[in-house]
Amino acid sequence: MSKQFDVIVIGAGPGGYIAAIRAAQLGFNVACIDDWKNDKGGPAPGGTCTNVGCIPSKALLQSSEHFEHANLHFADHGITATGVKMDVAKMIARKDAVVKQNNDGILYLFKKNKVTFFHGRGSFVKAAEGGYEIKAGEETLVGKQIIVATGSNARALPGVPFDEENILSNDGALRVGAVPKKLGLIGSGVIGLEMGSVWRRLGAEVTVLEGLPTFLGAVDEQIAKEAKKAFDKQGLKIELGVKVGEIKNGKKGVSVAYTNAKGEAQTLEVDKLIVSIGRVPNTIGLNAEAVGLQLDERGAIVVDGDCKTSLPGVWAVGDVVRGPMLAHKAEEEGVAVAERIAGQHGHVNFNTIPWVIYTSPEIAWVGRTEQQLKADGVKYKAGTFPFLANGRARALGDTTGMVKFLADAATDEILGVHIVGPMASELISEAVVAMEFKASAEDIARICHAHPSLSEATKEAALAVDKRTLNF
Ligand code: FAD
Ligand code: NAI
Repeated sequence: MSKQFDVIVIGAGPGGYIAAIRAAQLGFNVACIDDWKNDKGGPAPGGTCTNVGCIPSKALLQSSEHFEHANLHFADHGITATGVKMDVAKMIARKDAVVKQNNDGILYLFKKNKVTFFHGRGSFVKAAEGGYEIKAGEETLVGKQIIVATGSNARALPGVPFDEENILSNDGALRVGAVPKKLGLIGSGVIGLEMGSVWRRLGAEVTVLEGLPTFLGAVDEQIAKEAKKAFDKQGLKIELGVKVGEIKNGKKGVSVAYTNAKGEAQTLEVDKLIVSIGRVPNTIGLNAEAVGLQLDERGAIVVDGDCKTSLPGVWAVGDVVRGPMLAHKAEEEGVAVAERIAGQHGHVNFNTIPWVIYTSPEIAWVGRTEQQLKADGVKYKAGTFPFLANGRARALGDTTGMVKFLADAATDEILGVHIVGPMASELISEAVVAMEFKASAEDIARICHAHPSLSEATKEAALAVDKRTLNF
């Protein structure tokens, strides 16, 4: 006898587990199926984000930042810290403990919200009376509504499989047991910069090979330039416009043949190589063909603006569909789909999804860049304010970067906010709220911000749009 559910969610990453909880809050009888295993073979819900993505990478970024501060910055505060050492095994164990706390937290939330969790692979069997028959490990379930949230996997270079020993995806990059003397990365995107920063701070000589001639092409040019200056100063070697050729994986390490931007043949010899060239939507094992679920040429599940797939009663959210591959985007889609199933008007504003790169300095933005506004033919005003002129940043000893506002030339509506500097990840939320409420730069300029705080740089950048900064 198959178990009946109103809603079955396949995948318990941020898209899936949040969709399951929201659907349960709305009164549905919900199942969530996830196949991720912890090192003991038990369940580890949370998906890429919790297990090998957002959470563990931030744990390592934090540890490596403490190490760098102790070595480079404590002395400025009059603190003597000699013989500072990094116990990599302990750092990795702490990261694993943080991951486990999050896995356990999600299991607790499932219980609290009465979501039935199945540990195993979820796959379509066939359309059934009033829904779909779904295999969950060894069990058979029937669901009226199905939400697919099966996420994404790291993209490998053609013919260069990940062995997770020498050639690493994000998974292996988060489990390196000792600081490599030389570390190579292919791709200077988000993972390249975050993981490159971790291991550089711990003493690795890091080289990042990027195919495109521009650094962080999706980021506002002025902000990307400022960030690149900071990374160069830190010794993160980033080579742009390269063409990667043969990669040899030997006992002693990895050798990467490439041509540089001048067309010269080069070889990079490293102990470990992280390949971070983007991610591919994951529908492996879903048996999508059994029910005729439509995929696009990238393997992503085809959905409309409301996350409806080609099949009635089947929805898809997160990395497995179009749009940015971000945990908070997946979560918002999960909530919206659960609400749509309940007949409500779930809503995701794709124009106000923030991006954050958790390097030092952090890079964060929302809305359009200056180059996008130019391409779109929009008349705009720009205002910037450097952290160098912010009292709190000086007290912190972290004055790199700026806040930049872009506002409509006629209406003053905020069109984009771009930050490179300390705590950009937290500061960007004010800009997201402002844009969500269609605020003008003048609105932010007239709001009282606590002193001394980094957020005053946001207010001052808004004032700069009208050329009336007070502290610069
Ligand atoms: P996933 O998190 O990938 O979850 C999918 C789940 O479904 C997995 O548990 C998978 O095992 C399971 N699954 C797949 N197929 C089946 C099946 N057939 N049956 C059962 N279970 C199945 N985003 C941010 O917003 N901020 C960050 O700081 C950030 N850092 C990142 C760092 C790294 C190193 C990486 C790799 C990614 C990072 N991301 C970050 C991106 C973020 O992890 C993803 O956007 C997010 O996890 C997508 O959520 P999801 O629910 O769509 O899929
Ligand atoms: P990415 O798309 O951010 O960057 C990939 C980079 O690799 C690009 O700059 C691209 O030009 C380059 N590239 C592609 N093919 C190449 C080749 N053959 N040779 C050299 N360079 C090549 O992808 P990344 O870093 O793998 O991250 C995947 C996704 O995970 C991100 O796009 C993001 O959605 C998510 N993520 C988010 C984080 C955050 O929010 N802080 C952190 C880490 C990942």
